[in-house]
Amino acid sequence: MGKTIIISNRLPLQINISENDLEVSPSVGGLATGLKSFHQEGDSIWIGWTGLASEEIPENLKPKVLEKAKSQGCIPVDLTSEEIEKFYYGFSNRTIWPLFHYFMEYTEFDAEHWEAYKQVNQKYADAVIEKLEDGDTVWVHDYQLLLLPALIRKEKPKVTIGFFNHIPFPSYEVFRTLPWREEILRGMLGADLLGFHTYDYERHFLRSVNRILHYDINFNAVNKGNRIVKADSFPMGIDYNKFRNSALEHKSQPKSETTDIQKKLDYHKYVSKGTKLIISIDRLDYTKGIANRIRAFGYFLEKYPEYQENVRLIMLAVPSRTNVPQYQLLKKEIDELVGRINGKFATVNWTPIWYFYRSMPFDNLIDLYTSSDVALITPVRDGMNLVAKEYIATRTDNTGVLILSEMAGAAQELSEALLINPNNFEQIVDSIKYALEMPEEEQIRRNKIMQKRLRRYSVEKWAKDFMTNLRETTWTRKTFRTL
Ligand code: ADP
Ligand code: F6P
Repeated sequence: MGKTIIISNRLPLQINISENDLEVSPSVGGLATGLKSFHQEGDSIWIGWTGLASEEIPENLKPKVLEKAKSQGCIPVDLTSEEIEKFYYGFSNRTIWPLFHYFMEYTEFDAEHWEAYKQVNQKYADAVIEKLEDGDTVWVHDYQLLLLPALIRKEKPKVTIGFFNHIPFPSYEVFRTLPWREEILRGMLGADLLGFHTYDYERHFLRSVNRILHYDINFNAVNKGNRIVKADSFPMGIDYNKFRNSALEHKSQPKSETTDIQKKLDYHKYVSKGTKLIISIDRLDYTKGIANRIRAFGYFLEKYPEYQENVRLIMLAVPSRTNVPQYQLLKKEIDELVGRINGKFATVNWTPIWYFYRSMPFDNLIDLYTSSDVALITPVRDGMNLVAKEYIATRTDNTGVLILSEMAGAAQELSEALLINPNNFEQIVDSIKYALEMPEEEQIRRNKIMQKRLRRYSVEKWAKDFMTNLRETTWTRKTFRTL
């Protein structure tokens, strides 16, 4: 059996240049954090972008970039700043991303961006083909590379190709508005197996294939005439043991040792006063419902004034896609909302919202997960949401309450969380109160069930499951061909 070639737009490592040298940091986002353990453990190479435009890398540092990437089993694809502008910020994040998350009003249909999307997908296909050897399996990831399966198939008709979509696949009624809907579907159908986080996304995809391309669908198989392509749901898990063990390690530190983040938050002072902590952690993205979450928290303090001075919201937002206007506007809106609520409610002893606009090292994330009483996760739409799963995994004493939007793919597996509709303010506010007052036995009962599920379907199991299904699909294809 050959190697696996993982290919995604972004590599799990992010390269920056400072003082004519390289700084390497881990990429943030579900795809990178989730798939990293599969990549580290198996025989695979990962092809993708380093996060820098090729013009930004001085000639003398280019060999070093290759070397750094290679030391982590990665192969960088060069993208020029024009390609990044039109392919990444353009078609990927101003067309597909908003459309697939039902933000029709943000969706742009720009022919120039579409051309760039096609060209860059071809660039990634060339990079894969260059590394492809007999017996290799290709695993393509996410919405930036929807055309890739067919482009690779065209050159290498017999290769085994899997595709996984990390974001929602919208309903046919929304997807059909895309001017390039046929090309996108044909691109995806170059794969042997297409994976989605939920059954609903899978059905939306199959219905679009049927209505737009008129292929017959037999349960979860598309009959393309010359080939059968399968679609299935595989809810992505987390590296459960890593989160669990890090939390246990964190807990075993002597109590007198105040961690960095606890110092910043004056943690012990607040906790000894009985102040409850609510955390919110995401990339700064309009799909995550951050602005409404802040509004709901403000409304909570108004509706239940007894909680003023007794609860604090710690909000962590990682900068993301900062060249797209909606992200810039959202940043401004969040700054203003945080300012308004803190201005309205703060006292000499208490600031209701502590807001950090930055990425955090892994240890600090664990610190936050384990130090809080409630996780408030309210996306308007989210393919999966791994933060929700990470929170539950780190609760080693089984306490803590997860409030989770039913619009996140993760809600399908985490039904013991307090599920809310992110547009229903009253429900969010009352869930916050319920969460803060939930008896410990109830917290433990709910969390234990979710932990069991997350432990069983970890990211390793997810990847293995996908790969096993992929091999079965291609085995069936090859066997039928010889009959
Ligand atoms: P998405 O893929 O849309 O970004 P997910 O919730 O699925 O959303 O994944 C986000 C990932 O990024 C998680 O693994 C989480 O731990 C990580 N992450 C989120 N916020 C931060 C942060 N401020 N610093 C570091 N990592 C973060
Ligand atoms: O959740 C969707 C997703 O594309 C992830 O797959 C990825 O990890 C994350 O968003 C980050 O996106 P970007 O690469 O644009 O920073």
